Amino acid sequence: MCALRAMEQSDIGKAVEIIFTHDDDDAEAAQLDFERTGICDQYVFEMDSTIIGVTGFRRVPATENTAWLSWTYIAAQYCRQGHGTAMMQQLLSILNELDTRKIFVKVSNYRDEQGYEVYLGALKMYESLGFQLELTNKDFYDKDEDQLIYSKSLKSDGDDAVDILEEKPVMRFNGIYEIAESEGAYTFSWTVLDKKPLFGKRSFTIEDVQIGLKAAKKEGARKVFLTFPSNLPLIHQPLQAAGFKYVGTLKDYYERGVDEMHFSHTLANV
Ligand SMILES: CC(C)(COP(=O)(O)OP(=O)(O)OC[C@H]1O[C@@H](n2cnc3c(N)ncnc32)[C@H](O)[C@@H]1OP(=O)(O)O)[C@@H](O)C(=O)NCCC(=O)NCCS
Repeated sequence: MCALRAMEQSDIGKAVEIIFTHDDDDAEAAQLDFERTGICDQYVFEMDSTIIGVTGFRRVPATENTAWLSWTYIAAQYCRQGHGTAMMQQLLSILNELDTRKIFVKVSNYRDEQGYEVYLGALKMYESLGFQLELTNKDFYDKDEDQLIYSKSLKSDGDDAVDILEEKPVMRFNGIYEIAESEGAYTFSWTVLDKKPLFGKRSFTIEDVQIGLKAAKKEGARKVFLTFPSNLPLIHQPLQAAGFKYVGTLKDYYERGVDEMHFSHTLANV
């Protein structure tokens, strides 16, 4: 008999051990994540009181009940016996009970030196559970290692058109950083100012974007990835002028009618 239960602090070691049966880098990154971000909404999957799997989700702040799946693993010796599907079905029921609107998951298309697709089992499992591929960020984790973003809508929102107001906040870039679990993929952070400054340049200029790109290149960035809500019309001109390409959209990410738009820059001509 297998069942999902909330992860406790004392389960972290076992959860990390399970991830280690597949990938040591992932195990290390998961341990840090459990320690830093905490174990709220994280679960272990038990078979007759032996932990054989780990899964969970992270809610996205400032969205209407959107979540990302977190570390999802079945210990290697228990794989391909239907446990992953059973564990996910129980997690999806919990997400439904919590009124989650849409769940997203990031998967890599990494192939090891022998050409083995390490995450193929995960892709098959998500597809068989009704997840659909929404977006591919090329060369995200490393050169020739893409990020595939799958999603599943958990609530039917109906087909009525929604009125979404465009917003024009005063935005300023305030930092660049390397994206966790990637080799040389960078992103920028930005802040929204409460008030329009009396003096100084207007918000979100091409000059700001170029300063960020140059700084990222100097730090050794391979590529820069940015995401923005779809109701900010002022971002498009500076991004395009600075050479960013539109990659695609995660539909209804923030709320129904407000998507998350993805852009990337290869830094070739910076
Ligand atoms: C993904 C994972 C949790 C699936 O667990 P599992 O117990 O093997 O899954 P199941 O036995 O329920 O199989 C689910 C489906 O995937 C298929 N599948 C599983 N492993 C596979 C593999 N290596 N190659 C091809 N198909 C595979 C199964 O045939 C099944 O398909 P079906 O429903 O059409 O029959 C497990 O493979 C794992 O821990 N993988 C490594 C970690 C990982 O990739 N995590 C996700 C990161 S986002």
